[in-house]
Parts: sequence; C-alpha cells; structure tokens
Amino acid sequence: MKKRLTLTINQELSKNILKVKTDVLVVGVNEDKALNPLSQKIDNATNGIIKKLIKRKEFEGKIGQTAYISTSEGTSADRIFLVGFGKASNNLNSDNIDKISSAITGCLTSKQSVNGSVCIPPVKFESKELKDSDLLQKLGTSIESKTYTYDAKLNKKNKKVNHLKKVSIFVDSKQSNTQLRKGLKTGQAIGQGMNVAKDLANLPGNICTPSYLASSSRAAAKKYPNLSCRVFGEKEMKKMGMDCLLSVGNGSAQESKLISMNYQGGKKDERPYAIVGKGITFDTGGISLKPPATMDEMKFDMCGAASVIATMQVVSELKLPINLIGVVASAENMPGSKATKPGDVVRTMSGQTVEILNTDAEGRLVLADALTYVERFKPVSVVDIATLTGAVIMALGYSTSGLMSNNEKLASDLLRAGEKSSDRAWQLPIWDVYQKDLDSNFADIANIGGRAGTITAACFLSRFADKYPWAHLDVAGTASYKGAAKGGSGRPVPLLSQYLIDKA
Ligand code: BES
Ligand code: MN
Ligand code: ZN
Repeated sequence: MKKRLTLTINQELSKNILKVKTDVLVVGVNEDKALNPLSQKIDNATNGIIKKLIKRKEFEGKIGQTAYISTSEGTSADRIFLVGFGKASNNLNSDNIDKISSAITGCLTSKQSVNGSVCIPPVKFESKELKDSDLLQKLGTSIESKTYTYDAKLNKKNKKVNHLKKVSIFVDSKQSNTQLRKGLKTGQAIGQGMNVAKDLANLPGNICTPSYLASSSRAAAKKYPNLSCRVFGEKEMKKMGMDCLLSVGNGSAQESKLISMNYQGGKKDERPYAIVGKGITFDTGGISLKPPATMDEMKFDMCGAASVIATMQVVSELKLPINLIGVVASAENMPGSKATKPGDVVRTMSGQTVEILNTDAEGRLVLADALTYVERFKPVSVVDIATLTGAVIMALGYSTSGLMSNNEKLASDLLRAGEKSSDRAWQLPIWDVYQKDLDSNFADIANIGGRAGTITAACFLSRFADKYPWAHLDVAGTASYKGAAKGGSGRPVPLLSQYLIDKA
C-alpha cells in the first residue's frame, strides 16, 4: 500500500479557527437560519460572507452542496469552501455522509491545495449504529481514494500530480479523540486498499499477468508479519486435480497461478473467513472470441483478484482480530492451437466434469477449482468476487454489484456492509428452477445455459460451494469505470473490508 496522507483531528474548537494557516478551509454549513457555532465564527470574521451567499440563494446548505469563496479576508486561509450538511435536525444515513464526504474531498482537491482544514459541525444520525467516527471513516476513505493517480506508464510531462498532503479536521463531537482517530485510520486503510486494487486493475494485460499478481501478493505478504502467501504453478495445480482451472490458460503463453494468502489475526485454531477472486488478467473470450470493440476493457477481468489482494492488505493494516484466507485463481484466456475448444470436457478438482460450451464463460471455470481448494481451511464463510457476466450490467447497471448466496445470513451481512460502505450490492435468486439450465448431455454440468446469465453463472459456482456458507459478488459493472473515467474503481474493497470489520 502506498503511504497515506497526513490527516489529523482537532477537537479543541476553542482554538481559533480564524488563525489556522491553510490553503483551503472547508466549512460545514447547515440548511438553517441560524449558523452553527463554527460557521458563525467564520461568518463574523468575513463580513458575513456565508449569510450573504445564503440570502442570495447561491448556497442553501443542502446535503453535499458546495460553494467556493475565493476571498477569505478575516481568516488565515487562502480560500474557503462551504459544504452543505443539511438541516441540523436531520438524521443522516450512510448515503448522506457519503455525499458530504465526497463533497468535502472535492473542495480539498479542486484548487491544487497542499494543506487543507475542514470544520465539521455536530451531526445527528438515522441509526444508533452510525457515529461521528463513521463519518470520519467515510471521509478518510474518500480523501485517500479520490487523491489516487495512475501514472505508472506515463512520461513525466503527462503525469498527474496530487497536491494535497495534509488535512486537519476540526470536529464538534462527543466521541473521544481516540475513537474518532480510529474511524479516520480505518477509512484511510480502506481508501489505500481501493488504490491498490485500482493500480492492479489499471496495469495493462502485458504487464499484469498471473505471475505479476503472484509477485504482487508475495510482496504484500513481506510487508505484514501476520500475512503469508503461497503460489501454486501449473504443475502443482495439475497434481491437485485442477484441470478445470488449467483449461482456461491452455491457449496462453502465460503460466496460470493459484495464489493462496493467509492472514492470522485471530487465535491459531479459530476458523477463518475466506475471499476468492477471479484473476483473468486478460479475457479475449478464447476460441469463443469476443468482438473487438471495448475488448481492451477485458484487462479489468482480474478486478475480483485485485479486490482480494487489496482487502488482505486492509485487514493486515488494521490488524483485525480474525483469520482470513485470500485466494486468487489467475489465468489468461487466449485462443491458440492448444486452447480449450467449445465442446471440450474437463474434470474439476471436485470430481464433477464440465462441458465447456463457450470458452468465454471462463471465470466460473477458474473459480470452480478455487472454491474446492478453500474447503481445506474449513472456512466460516466464503465470498467470491468476480467480473463474471455482462448480464449483471443489464440487470443492475454500473452502480450496484450482484449478490447471490446459499446462506441468507451471509447475504444479509454482505448487503448491510455494502450499504454502510456505500458500495452497494443487490441480491438475485439462485433457485433450483435455474439449475437445470446447466444440464449437459456429455458431462455432469455445462458451463453456460439459460437466459438469466448472471444467475446461471452463480448456479454453476454453487455446485462447487456446497460445503460452507457461500456468497458470490458479480462486480462486472462496478469494478471499473467506462468512458472518460476509464479505470479501476477500487470496488468492492469497501464492502469486503466493512464485512470483515463488522465480524472482528
Ligand atoms: N469477463 C466476462 C464478463 C464481463 C463482461 C465483464 C463485460 C465485464 C464486462 C466473462 O468472462 C464473460 O465473457 N462472460 C460471458 C458469459 C457468456 C459467454 C455466458 C458474458 O457475460 O457474455
Ligand atoms: Mn469471458
Ligand atoms: Zn471473463
């Protein structure tokens, strides 16, 4: 993980905010007649600039609304931004605090400021579960993840620089400084994790190969004493009976890898949680070749793997008192004389045979053997993360991940973690009526079938995940952005981290 920014918390509101030297002062303002004490102080010093803006209706204080004030006479700040916190009597939910945090980060980063200060007024929350420390967690994640730049392969003149280095946060809260700082640090670690996932996603397929994911995982393990990493090559996988996983890389010159990471934060004999990621470092479709338009985006087909490698680091950084296994099933899906062909039948590690009707449905093939592999750890729960189907984008668009599970408690825990971290998922059914779409005349199961593409893909996986509570996250729509913002999004690192934080 890259170094985090210097964020500090200041609860001494008596300390004169007007004397704080800063490039940018971001002031939280409520949507009320009376200003909160901190903004009132700033209003008094600046000749009533805040009230003037409110009077002119240029700024109302609505949640996430912002206003830029280029002059700041009367304060020691170079410029001021106002950020709306809504009515002081509002009970904010996690969506609201996400909007506010994003707005604050936007203000901190929009004018090339190096040092920033933020004033957070007293906030009321919708549920007892939410506290000021959660707002600071969100802000920490937002600041870290939104100051991310990718320039690994750019020449100096084209490199984007992130100017922001230090932020001092003034907060009017009843929680202790330790609690608030913990929230902020947790948030920063999640943001740093998102950036790890983005870096892996953004690297091109000619660099980010299965071997690259393996060395990146090994390097991460070296940094944390509680984290270890083991990598299986093709020979070792062959010995374990993973012909299904191996069939995907048959057409590629790149060696397939199974990466197994182990984080020991709990007692030695405590059963671990497990996360399993699809790591197709490039998906051409294989012999069932994809059309050329936007095929470049198939370098993002390892985003599930990236979220696993990143979340292992978030958990290590936070020293969570749990045990966690992270598995990455990685291959490159290429056509070629040795490539798997439609109609080929392979044997999985579980013993079930698979008829590969479409070589472009390869993610489920690598995951099948990885899901059997994790049985040996007797996991409490297994969550796999995969850019598995284009169909999930038809169902849920680019904002929401698809969730499917064989265990309702696990499903609801994950949905809640997604909501809390503003990294939402929505559940789809995997009822028996869909299972028969995978019947094959030539093997125990076919790798495609039926019209409900996202669901049948999950049904396929469920055949290999019957030994433990299991959930599947289809992140084909959410793990990367399209168009001008093309690049990794860092999702679903917040959801996964929040789920594990809630378990710790
Ligand atoms: N990696 C793709 C899914 C995908 C599509 C991810 C679009 C991101 C954006 C996956 O391997 C795939 O090709 N799935 C096929 C399955 C089909 C052949 C049953 C699909 O969704 O078209
Ligand atoms: Mn594919
Ligand atoms: Zn794929």
